Amino acid sequence: MAPPVSPPRAAVPPVRSFGPVTHLDSTAAGAHLQSDAGAAMRLDFLTDGVLRVRLAPFGRFSDGFSYALDPEADWPGPARLEIEGDEDSVTLQTALLTARIERATGRLSVRTPDGLPVLDDADAPGWTAEHAVLVKRLRDGERVLGLGDKTTTLDRRGGRYAHWNTDAFAFERGTDPIYKTIPFVLGIGEDGVAYGLFVDTPARSSFDVGAADPKRLIVEAEAGALTYYVFHDPSPLAIVQAFTRLTGPMPMLPRWALGYHQCRYSYRSADEVRAVARGFRARGIPCDALYFDIHYMDGYRVFTWDRDAFPDPAGLIRELEEDGFRTVVIVDPGVKADDPDYAVARDGLERGAFCRMPDGEPYVGDVWPGPCYFPDFTDPAVRRWWGGLHRELLDAGVDGVWNDMNEPAIFDVEQEGAADVEENAKTFPDDVRHHYEGHGADHALAHNVYGMQMVRATYDGLKALRPDRRPFVITRAAYAGTQRYATGWTGDNASTWDHLRLALQQALSLNVSGMAFVGADVGGFIGAPSGELLARWMQLGALMPLFRNHSGLDSPPQEPWVLGEEVERVCREAIELRYRLLPYLYTQMHRAAEEALPILRPLALVHPDDETVREQSPDGFYVGPDLLAYPVLHEGQREAEVYFPPNSGGWFDFHTGTPYEPGTTHRVEAPLGTMPLFVRAGTVLPLDPVRASTAEAAGELTLRVYASGGSFAASLYDDAGDGWGYHDDEAHRVMLRVEQGEGRLTLHPTIEGSYEPGWQVYHVEIIGVGGGKRAVLAEAEPLPISGESGILRFQISRLGPISVEL
Ligand code: GLC
Repeated sequence: MAPPVSPPRAAVPPVRSFGPVTHLDSTAAGAHLQSDAGAAMRLDFLTDGVLRVRLAPFGRFSDGFSYALDPEADWPGPARLEIEGDEDSVTLQTALLTARIERATGRLSVRTPDGLPVLDDADAPGWTAEHAVLVKRLRDGERVLGLGDKTTTLDRRGGRYAHWNTDAFAFERGTDPIYKTIPFVLGIGEDGVAYGLFVDTPARSSFDVGAADPKRLIVEAEAGALTYYVFHDPSPLAIVQAFTRLTGPMPMLPRWALGYHQCRYSYRSADEVRAVARGFRARGIPCDALYFDIHYMDGYRVFTWDRDAFPDPAGLIRELEEDGFRTVVIVDPGVKADDPDYAVARDGLERGAFCRMPDGEPYVGDVWPGPCYFPDFTDPAVRRWWGGLHRELLDAGVDGVWNDMNEPAIFDVEQEGAADVEENAKTFPDDVRHHYEGHGADHALAHNVYGMQMVRATYDGLKALRPDRRPFVITRAAYAGTQRYATGWTGDNASTWDHLRLALQQALSLNVSGMAFVGADVGGFIGAPSGELLARWMQLGALMPLFRNHSGLDSPPQEPWVLGEEVERVCREAIELRYRLLPYLYTQMHRAAEEALPILRPLALVHPDDETVREQSPDGFYVGPDLLAYPVLHEGQREAEVYFPPNSGGWFDFHTGTPYEPGTTHRVEAPLGTMPLFVRAGTVLPLDPVRASTAEAAGELTLRVYASGGSFAASLYDDAGDGWGYHDDEAHRVMLRVEQGEGRLTLHPTIEGSYEPGWQVYHVEIIGVGGGKRAVLAEAEPLPISGESGILRFQISRLGPISVEL
């Protein structure tokens, strides 16, 4: 059960309820209704399975502007829509769902075409003096996933969650709100019937997921007119995909984004950075990126360097690059206000780029540099200006940008004139003005999109300044859709075992919420991890899309080698595992970018109607469709109870090749050096050789064929690792069709795209074909083979049809 989050409180009954429907017009994509209380509702199907609901308390809809929506998404409307009505209700039916409006109240119920409940209004929508209120019915046994980085358990049921991006230093399980706002939930019924609900408002809002009343999901938003979306599809994964398409998939990132990243608050000088870089190379521990935290700047002035500590940034970055390291620098939103010679502040003031109080004076709040101005990132001209400020950083060779403190965070000060000091502390007062793309808004509305618009400025700036490179941006704050611009991390966690568990849960929940490329500070930010904790965290981190070790100002060093030889060995092996998995992870990143799929997948998402998953919530999770991980999340734990979900061919241990039957549970050994990891039978897992960084060419590729006894197809994606050539098909897509019949296994590759990955050798490993005499034929030539306990290995130099006699 979820621990208490914002104490449940009885929902305020709406003062105005939608009221009896007086008018109904059907439209090509839905219907338009009015009530005798003067309220209005518009229903529009974006596709058969995505229904947009717009509500207007006094008949006036908002103009439809939303920061969340992907401007490039294209919605065809319903393939076929049937609208029928009788005295009691009006029904709109597509191939995927039925929406019924009760005439007497305006209540909406959404069902499957066979009439199974999906998402029903328990009460009609309504309004209090301050809020729009939605009251949906929670089904018995329903699990509710999503809501971004919220800190309870994967299943949100029993908690009430507030949406107000907050600098939550040292947050714990149950702290709410924290850094991100993604008002999207995925409800999965006992029967596996699932829905998505996205309430598209950045305004202060709350989701009470059965806390006040176990049978109700109550959404309250400080808004009048409100837009929300209901998603339904037989597959919950397709629901997450549809929500991610609506808010825009992540872009393709440079390959090095998938490498190991080392960070610290802070590496304080060029020499310290050099020493860390040497530490990796001398020990042969792979690493792709080093981060510069706030001490690289001159007095925390953004877009400057402390020239005493970093006398020659370009020289240092060049040296690092020659050694295979990328450089990521932090850029916070606060612009130092008390230095008349500081060009960024002067320039910003002249342009009127900073957020202002209602009296027109720039708002000033304290952060690292002392008093600061804050760019109004909701103004496109300000975003362009800010984006352009990155030129010198890029000229110095910087590769990526880390945007922090963008909730926005202000040090704990009492805001003058704020009506409610408690609520306004640590961020701007509610009445700070924002451009809001010309619509104008108070901070109360713009607050939750501030960080998102900051990373948009950064992303667009990097892309404009260096059009041939894929931007790499990392953010702490987010609103729905932020994945279009940035990767994310989960903020200031701590070096505790519960934070390790939380790190996984947050990453899974963010993936359900559209943000696929995320991770938590490996090892924990606050405090110091034990060797065992760091080792286990490295193992988990190796499977997170963003794999970054970071530690705080007062924490001891946390690089992989600081906690003794055994821990160093385990950390190295975890990082090496990550580098071996790169071609698989790169393929998954590509699918996230092109197909809006999550990279990490909770078991409930993939097996919605599985009883064991529902009743026992096993610790396992999927990385892409083929890898099943059971990371060790408890101190002293040396074995894992592994539930192997049902599938057609079973499972194999990644490390040993041991097969497991689907639908069974086993205790698997997990000594400190081992994270239980399994591969779905019926796939081909591509693996790289271990290398110091992705700057080195891989040169060869391992294809591990996990036989299932039948036929299957697997795919592999590769490209130049940066740039946009893949849009013009400068990509490398391999489809591998594997057929297994009597005494023979064949592998037929089909290759598309003009990019040549430069693999000179392919190591083929076939797992799960049993013992006996075998022969391998590639291009009709017999090949030397070696094999041990069910694994058959051979090498080829060109990918062509292969036939194996079993
Ligand atoms: C915030 C960030 C942390 C960073 C620190 C200094 O606490 O969350 O990651 O190291 O600021 O910039």
